[in-house]
Amino acid sequence: MFSKKTIRDIDLKRKTVLLRADFNVPVKDGKITDDYRIKQALPTINFLLAHSKRLIICSHLGRPKGPDDSSASLFPVAKRLQQLIDRPVGFATDSVGESADKAVKDLQKGHVLLLENLRFYSEEENNDHEFAKKLASYADVFVQDGFGVVHRAHASTDAIAHYLPSVSGFLLEKEVDTITNVMHQPKRPLMAIIGGAKIADKIDVLHKFIEIADFVAVGGGMANTFLAGKGLNVEESLYDRADVPVARDIMRKAAREARKRPFIFSIPVDGVVSKKVDKFSKTRIVDWGAHVIADIEHYPRRVPKTATRLLDDERILDIGPFSGSFIAGGVQLANTVIWNGSMGVTEIDGTQGPIGPYSQGTNIIVEAMIGEFGNKPFTVVGGGDTVGYIQAHKLLDCFNHVSTGGGASLELMAGRKLPGVEVLLDK
Ligand code: 3PG
Repeated sequence: MFSKKTIRDIDLKRKTVLLRADFNVPVKDGKITDDYRIKQALPTINFLLAHSKRLIICSHLGRPKGPDDSSASLFPVAKRLQQLIDRPVGFATDSVGESADKAVKDLQKGHVLLLENLRFYSEEENNDHEFAKKLASYADVFVQDGFGVVHRAHASTDAIAHYLPSVSGFLLEKEVDTITNVMHQPKRPLMAIIGGAKIADKIDVLHKFIEIADFVAVGGGMANTFLAGKGLNVEESLYDRADVPVARDIMRKAAREARKRPFIFSIPVDGVVSKKVDKFSKTRIVDWGAHVIADIEHYPRRVPKTATRLLDDERILDIGPFSGSFIAGGVQLANTVIWNGSMGVTEIDGTQGPIGPYSQGTNIIVEAMIGEFGNKPFTVVGGGDTVGYIQAHKLLDCFNHVSTGGGASLELMAGRKLPGVEVLLDK
């Protein structure tokens, strides 16, 4: 149960509200390419519009170098939000300072104002109290709904709560509740599928899942670091040399766990490999877990060496069919699946459609999770590239919870306290 006060628990009548959202959305040539985070903030925004006097929204976008970085302006978000809520959304070209003061002063009852990117000021990331005080001076109540950013202690997630009564919005409440429940009281068997590029971001969460899950499957670029730890030559592939000992450590921990109780930890035994990363390049399937094919009776007695060995100039770009089927088979037995990170280079389209040559591994596990093979577990999905994949394939509604947070959801799953939640008023 979420222990913080929410916008249901506080009197908002005649109040000006400052809402912190996470509108850090991808923008290309001034156009928003994925508005999932904006849409997910709408229940809170609509509630605040109905129950408070005036609404000011603040957010960051990207990691701008300075205030002149126009590619990080929140202006496109103001336009999109206006379409989504079907009422005027004013835009202040600054988050504090004279133009923001004036925009706040002129803000009419029932109207919305979006402030410019908070990160145009280094004070935001430095958790500067003067900056927070200035933001706080615009409102009577602070509402935190930017789940994606509450793992950061910044001025608009931490310091601000010292200067205004601070409560949670509906999105933050839903995210924390769902993820906490699934970590503490999952319907078992619980399976975690962890992929993506870098192992460094996922070390803590892997440790956690080895403790609590029944099946942990690793894929994607980060699996290469585990394969390096097993002695496979992955020099051409994306992997983190410095983290090989970490991967070995995790595999040792998993092996210890498997001796204590029924538990599976899997890393890929085969992969889709190529010399180049584009949709036209020639691919091969390499089965470095050669014992697997050697066990199959009808497989040719003499397996060509190249079928089990990566060439020096080949890189691993996806999990192979055996690994994909093995994970999908696990999903058939699971009642809860938590998925973070794709299994291969999914951003490359195919020559005939959106499923590219390195997306097959991700595709089969997605089909399994959404019930295409029979079983339909409760599914929780997080991470930017993962959510992007689901969006691109129009599968958002096929999952039970698609998190708006990348780093924040991982930290919450790992059991860490989130500074932006801690500072809110207790129930
Ligand atoms: C995210 O996209 O994960 C959040 O908006 C946080 O962004 P940050 O990693 O730049 O702090």
